[in-house]
Amino acid sequence: MNPVITWIYQSEDSDPAEVEAFEQSITRRYSVLSRPRGFDFRVIRATELVPSCVGRPVLRHGGEDLLEQRQCFIVEDMATDPQGLQALRAVYRTIEASGSVLLNRSFDGPDYLERDKLAQLQHAAGLGIPTAPTVTVPPGKYARRAIEEVRRELGDGPYVVKPREMTGGYGVLRVDSDQQLAATIDIAAQAGAGYIVQPLIEHLGDMRVFVADGKVVSSLTRRPRPGGYLASVSQGGSIEVNEDHVEVADLCGRMAQDLRAEWMCIDWLMTDSGPVLNEWSTAHGGFTMMPEPELGKVADAFFGWIRRRFETDPGR
Ligand SMILES: Nc1ncnc2c1ncn2[C@@H]1O[C@H](COP(=O)(O)OP(=O)(O)O)[C@@H](O)[C@H]1O
Ligand SMILES: [Mg+2]
Repeated sequence: MNPVITWIYQSEDSDPAEVEAFEQSITRRYSVLSRPRGFDFRVIRATELVPSCVGRPVLRHGGEDLLEQRQCFIVEDMATDPQGLQALRAVYRTIEASGSVLLNRSFDGPDYLERDKLAQLQHAAGLGIPTAPTVTVPPGKYARRAIEEVRRELGDGPYVVKPREMTGGYGVLRVDSDQQLAATIDIAAQAGAGYIVQPLIEHLGDMRVFVADGKVVSSLTRRPRPGGYLASVSQGGSIEVNEDHVEVADLCGRMAQDLRAEWMCIDWLMTDSGPVLNEWSTAHGGFTMMPEPELGKVADAFFGWIRRRFETDPGR
């Protein structure tokens, strides 16, 4: 029997009518790549898990302790509601404390660098990487204080306002005027999550570069649909594979080396005046929609890395 890679996610953030189809689709897309490379793949909803510490970490799913045997896990740790997020973090930390492999933890450095766009850009800027200028929206009734800072640091619009920690193009809003900015910030102030403001960066594509052991493997470029501004595939973006990653290979290498990253997916907004770092992600960076032969190349690198980690690293 193959060892299992278990993907754990917050199903409560999806329309219940879409949950089944999503789970079937992701299981099919990953299984077809993982099985020939020696791993089974499954998805589990975070709400079905009970994490404990009883002298050792336990992660109960039905009657089974998922940590009884060493396995590999990918845990999404972004959710829209605070309790859901706390629950995901409990799962994440329970696996991290166990002898199992938490594939998200693919670099040295604090875990918030897996998901916090502000912290990622600050970290990369410190390495001399070109980054999207970013202003944070203060919470609640202080939120409008962001407006003055946006004017000072980002100049005139248009802008993009988006969640600091979220994925899939969720809540990413284009804002064209001062009045829209103020209204958007008013809405963000009620949202319960952190938001950031950036200038709208005109881009030909959003290129995700797959980096294994400090080396660029390949890339996937997502383009907004004509007249659109979101390149996310889940928001109607189209995909293309090209060689543009050669342009950012050194920058990607610098970032991966600094974090001692084993696996990273680094996203660049490709502009007329060069690449600008937008964000990065770790083991859940999607590549299953890539065309062959690049798909096979990235899958070999990804599951090869998982194999090495699974066989040689009894807890980081
Ligand atoms: N500052 C920006 N300027 C222009 N487009 C942006 C900007 N930020 C995000 N986008 C567009 O929105 C998409 C989703 O935003 P992103 O920051 O990647 O969030 P997510 O974590 O949801 O993928 C990007 O792929 C890009 O096309
Ligand atoms: Mg993105």
